[in-house]
Amino acid sequence: MKLKDRVFIITGATSGMGKGIALKFAEEGASLILNGRDPERGEAVLKEVKHREVDALFIQGDIGKEATNKHLVDKAVEKFGKLDGLVANAGFLGLGSITELDTELWHRTFQTNLDSVFFLLKHSIPELKKAGKGVAVINSSIAAYKSFPKHASYCASKAGVLALTKQAAVDYGPEIRINAICPGPVDTPLLHDSAIAFPDPEMAVHEAEKATLMNRLGKPKDIAQLALFLASDDSSWITGCAYTIDGGIMANS
Ligand SMILES: NC(=O)c1ccc[n+]([C@@H]2O[C@H](COP(=O)([O-])OP(=O)(O)OC[C@H]3O[C@@H](n4cnc5c(N)ncnc54)[C@H](OP(=O)(O)O)[C@@H]3O)[C@@H](O)[C@H]2O)c1
Repeated sequence: MKLKDRVFIITGATSGMGKGIALKFAEEGASLILNGRDPERGEAVLKEVKHREVDALFIQGDIGKEATNKHLVDKAVEKFGKLDGLVANAGFLGLGSITELDTELWHRTFQTNLDSVFFLLKHSIPELKKAGKGVAVINSSIAAYKSFPKHASYCASKAGVLALTKQAAVDYGPEIRINAICPGPVDTPLLHDSAIAFPDPEMAVHEAEKATLMNRLGKPKDIAQLALFLASDDSSWITGCAYTIDGGIMANS
């Protein structure tokens, strides 16, 4: 039980990687505050988490808003008396090339992907310091390094996430360790939404799969294993890093 008696916030926990991370952290004994916008999927994940005999809360809310992030931290402290870590995982695509992209969609992508990380760190850091050995795992993307058609706001926001992760690690070490994950194509709804930007979406997913050196898409479980490593004491000398987890795509690009 690598996270026994530890309390974590996980955003974007209603689907894909966030759900996978929630289930893995629960198996490792963590108490959880889960967030997403969809209450039905949120309650379903909460039920699965509780089957693993840990305590958890689902809190519905738009993570792009500062008040939601503060509320998550307040609830963690109110329910569990402390906060040991967070996984900032929620993400939004906001597809469109620069000239096509509605400015509102640009802002929404940045609010969901980048402002949310700033807000969650801002409100969590005082609690993470109090708990001692605080950790933050931030979900970026290989899109921080590599461009894709019509992913202007997504790629730019994910690159910002990496810069913010390193900055936070510099400002808040040694008390808090802060690392990023940069997944390649993982089989979740967001990947299939992202493929819509390509002329043949089905082919784009197939080509992404072929471009890996492992001949398969990632699974939420693959990402959950890395998130667990970065959240646990197994990575106690690691901070300010970005871990690419992509089946080898970046080596092959
Ligand atoms: N799949 C990939 O290939 C891939 C690759 C690299 C990085 N990523 C990143 O991995 C993370 C997880 O994505 P995923 O692939 O697991 O996609 P997913 O299955 O579509 O999940 C996205 C999650 O983000 C939540 N979310 C989106 N906007 C939100 C908002 N405004 N407020 C609160 N929650 C919000 C969604 O919850 P609700 O629907 O309940 O709001 C959902 O739980 C994202 O940051 C994504 O950018 C994905």
